[in-house]
Amino acid sequence: MEFSVERRGAVETWTIDGEARRNAISRAMLAELGRLLARAASDRTLRCVVLTGAGDRAFCAGADLKERATMSADDVHAFHDGLRDAFLAIEAAPQPFVAALNGAALGGGLELALACDLRIASETAQLGLPEVGLGIIPGGGGTARLPRLVGVARAKDLVLTARRCSAGEALSMGLVSRVAPPRRLAEEAWALAAEIALNAPVSLRQAKRAVDGGFDLPLGEALALENRLYQDCLATEDRKEALRAFAEKRPPVFRGE
Ligand code: COA
Repeated sequence: MEFSVERRGAVETWTIDGEARRNAISRAMLAELGRLLARAASDRTLRCVVLTGAGDRAFCAGADLKERATMSADDVHAFHDGLRDAFLAIEAAPQPFVAALNGAALGGGLELALACDLRIASETAQLGLPEVGLGIIPGGGGTARLPRLVGVARAKDLVLTARRCSAGEALSMGLVSRVAPPRRLAEEAWALAAEIALNAPVSLRQAKRAVDGGFDLPLGEALALENRLYQDCLATEDRKEALRAFAEKRPPVFRGE
């Protein structure tokens, strides 16, 4: 198995199980990620996913460069199509995804984290897009998603130098939103996911779509998109449950409908 999956309540932690290759993205790993994402897309009891890597050295060292050396040009094209599809599927997933960066997140590994909704890093994590030093450019969305997250100047500072930045620098530029001591990372990532998972599932899905879909739109169109997604929430049982729970002074019990 390429991932170990642990379920606690409504939260799953998906751990890339490839410590010896620093959790690099192989074809087998990508195929299993695709299967996990397909299952998550129809699992209404799953409210949030934490994505992390085994060990304390790397979250994910990018594409598996040893496997890459054995691949034909067609194989590489197919691999990159699969990579892009998997990252888009994370963005399209109904649940929020939290990337817990337990170590180096480099190249495709950082791009995997960029496709997630939130990133929390171990204090010892290093983040970077080393591709221009390898004769390529980021090919899994790095040049598109990073500037949207941190701005064009900061993105170019990382992309064009190919340097690695610390968790502290990543926090200061908004590349990650939280930093935790290495020993506490898994628990803090889970606690963040559990806090998210308390909320109404349809609202989480619509809020994720509103932020992601509205970000690049002119303000008027973004507000129209938000309004459409808001209206969908009005029709849900969970909205009525939230009003009942408020009146009865108890926490709501959301069912995702
Ligand atoms: N693909 C395949 N194997 C990889 C790998 C990758 N992207 N990154 C690391 N490995 C392998 C190493 O070859 C080594 O294997 P070996 O034991 O058979 O020699 C093993 O993982 C450990 O690597 P090492 O560099 O000793 O580990 P580290 O903990 O000191 O450093 C990294 C971890 C991730 C910082 C470092 O391995 C690294 O910089 N990797 C390359 C990252 C990169 O440039 N990715 C490509 C982006 S396009």
